[in-house]
Amino acid sequence: MNLHVAAARTDTDRLWRSLTEMAAIGATAGGGVGRLALSDEDRLARDLFRSWCRDAGLTVRVDRMGNVFARRAGSEPGAAPVITGSHLDSQPLGGRFDGAYGVLAGLEVMRTLNDAGIATRAPLDVVVWTDEEGSRFTPGMAASGVFAGVYALDEGLAVRDTQGITIGEALAAIGYAGDEPVGGYPVDAYFEAHIEQGPLLEMERKLIGVVTGAQGQRCFQVRVTGEEGHAGTLPMTQRRDALLGAARMVDVLNDIAFGYQPHPVITVGRLLVRPNSPNTIPGECQFTIDSRHPDDDILDRVEREMRAECSRMAAGLDLQIEFSGSSRRRSIEFDRDCVALVRDAARELNYPARDIASAAAHDACHLARIVPTAMIFVPCRDGISHNERESAEPEHLAAGADVLLHAMLQRAR
Ligand code: GLV
Ligand code: MN
Ligand code: MN
Repeated sequence: MNLHVAAARTDTDRLWRSLTEMAAIGATAGGGVGRLALSDEDRLARDLFRSWCRDAGLTVRVDRMGNVFARRAGSEPGAAPVITGSHLDSQPLGGRFDGAYGVLAGLEVMRTLNDAGIATRAPLDVVVWTDEEGSRFTPGMAASGVFAGVYALDEGLAVRDTQGITIGEALAAIGYAGDEPVGGYPVDAYFEAHIEQGPLLEMERKLIGVVTGAQGQRCFQVRVTGEEGHAGTLPMTQRRDALLGAARMVDVLNDIAFGYQPHPVITVGRLLVRPNSPNTIPGECQFTIDSRHPDDDILDRVEREMRAECSRMAAGLDLQIEFSGSSRRRSIEFDRDCVALVRDAARELNYPARDIASAAAHDACHLARIVPTAMIFVPCRDGISHNERESAEPEHLAAGADVLLHAMLQRAR
């Protein structure tokens, strides 16, 4: 590589300023971000990203799942693009870096290449994937899933929020129902930069996590049905209390996790109670189950056990139970060559690095099914994420962007 290219570094302050400006959209009182997928805040974040892309001379297109691609042209017409990116949606009480970092690190790579006058053979794309979080529309990562052929386009557009609004309707409402086909063309490689969302890099004082793969995940929803009744008049012996059933299930699900070594992680993150009134016995409860483990066979067993135990609890309380909306993602290994490019870039840049497996899910997990893929992690304070207190250091974020820059250049030059 010539010296000029080898010396290229991203701009720490510019990246930090962009992250700070982006974090103002949907800023929460606790210092985080609440930018639910396809909300007005998500629209504003996308609009801001697009305006920055236009300023950087990138060409923007939007596909039918609302994924936004900003392209820096390459010198070889028709060459398969090298893509990077992440998401701009967040958890309801999310942090400033989960997702936004990967998108803005990608933009910072483009700006750096522009400033240094570095051309590439292959085009480079920065992508914003629609609804990574799965917080409003469940399952998450539906849009990268359509891109990777995990879901059909119709299935992706039909995913609903708890109000019954579909992704297709929400995209139209915020003006992001694009007309480009979703995927279906060759991609040379996909790299995603992200905060670690765990404590390992910080504990070991490493700057870069060379992500080798990600654990599998099973999500589904449970509906428990009993019967509404008067809180004052219906004797305890005659109740069919759906919330009592759900509460016992939550407890037993937690116990199931401790029955395996290493423990799977099992989370009930949403509970909807009907009619949710202080003096009516709850007639219906719906809740979500999120379970993850690196070993897919264990995940299979855990899922069977969870369903059987919940059914047993329901029967004991004379409640009906229904499972729905199941999504399964197998654990994945990233592409050896792309992972090696990340590792080599960190070494060349003299950034202390270690291999690491992702415990969180990322759009990269879907992309890896069809495109050579790798990820770059940087430390976050105390490993905290999905929390308004999520925090990361400007220099660490820029180091990850440098690694991204050089890994992409290796592929695209
Ligand atoms: C993504 O945010 C996940 O839940 O892993
Ligand atoms: Mn994320
Ligand atoms: Mn997240």
